Amino acid sequence: MIIGHSDDLFNETLCGYLSNGVMMPGYTAFHQEYLERLLGDRPGERGAFFKTASEAVTAAFRLAAMRTGRLGVVRSGYIGWHDAQIANSLKWHEPLHSPLREKLRYTDAMRGIGESEPVANWVDLRLESLAELLERHRGRLGCFVFDAYLASFTTPEVLRQAVAMCRDAGLLTVFDETKTGGRISPLGYDHDNGLGSDLVVIGKALANGAPLSLLVGEAELLAHAERARLSGTFSKEMIAVYAALATRDILEKPAGDAPDGWTEIGRIGTEVAAVFSAAAEDAGVSSLVGARPVLGGGMFELVYHDEGLLGDKERREALLAAFAAAGILLLEGHPSFVCLAHREIDWSAFRDRARLAFEQWTASTGADRD
Ligand SMILES: Cc1ncc(COP(=O)(O)O)c(C=O)c1O
Repeated sequence: MIIGHSDDLFNETLCGYLSNGVMMPGYTAFHQEYLERLLGDRPGERGAFFKTASEAVTAAFRLAAMRTGRLGVVRSGYIGWHDAQIANSLKWHEPLHSPLREKLRYTDAMRGIGESEPVANWVDLRLESLAELLERHRGRLGCFVFDAYLASFTTPEVLRQAVAMCRDAGLLTVFDETKTGGRISPLGYDHDNGLGSDLVVIGKALANGAPLSLLVGEAELLAHAERARLSGTFSKEMIAVYAALATRDILEKPAGDAPDGWTEIGRIGTEVAAVFSAAAEDAGVSSLVGARPVLGGGMFELVYHDEGLLGDKERREALLAAFAAAGILLLEGHPSFVCLAHREIDWSAFRDRARLAFEQWTASTGADRD
């Protein structure tokens, strides 16, 4: 969600669009209008419509294979649930130094990986490691895909160099902005930092919960999409596009003191993180845990300051359970998201609930206080 669950203005705007019907024989003026509004700052680019980001990333793999003749992939981050996206992957959202990060998961019953189509994990975000992977699989890698959330673990300069190194090695470069695009800003991290990846995937936040994902890139590259048959029955349906138009109708306008909804969402997430950190302080656990805004505040996450706690899945899950019991839903081992409706939060009641959750957690798990 980016605006809110069952928001009145969103519902009303969406209903207005719905009177135009939900399916036509092909893509429509509404798809076109949405792309023009989304890509106004990227002249010469086009977009392909999908329902899920896993589909859009698979489409990027295929475009890369068509262009380079190579099936292999270098990936960093969670980039979807399709086999070659998830097979042999890590707990990607764990901090780089977390002992829980590197254990390989989803190792059985997966296709699309192997000697002739290697899927290599760029785990530590060091350029030397990337160079080593590019060398080890030389001539077999066609695509580099990076989950933009992991940009919060490194710097734009490192990522700029990573994109350049992959390009030099002949790979098509893809920034996967499924979590970030349309959330931290209208287009996301790659665009804001001028990284210039060949393709960008956007999803999740675009349509306030309706299923929509886009693959965006140079018109010449996207022209292969038709030859590659990158489309399905429901790629053309209009409900998600109406929801995306309604979302933009709202986010493009000033919100509170902010010039637009994206800026306001960043402010809200920054405040949410500050409240968690203040509540940890109130409860005397700030040496163990706090929170930080991620990439400007459209997302935030808990930060474990204590090494023992970082590697202790049970105690971390117990903390999340204590928050849930206090009416606060957070994701574990994953950034959490905020939406415009979080403006309505009673901030002091929220701080009290968070403090209570921290206190109950320390009481039940015997976690040391400061
Ligand atoms: C960076 C990233 N890529 C791809 C995906 C897959 O998206 P979907 O669940 O829409 O297939 C996700 C979903 O969490 C994601 O965060």
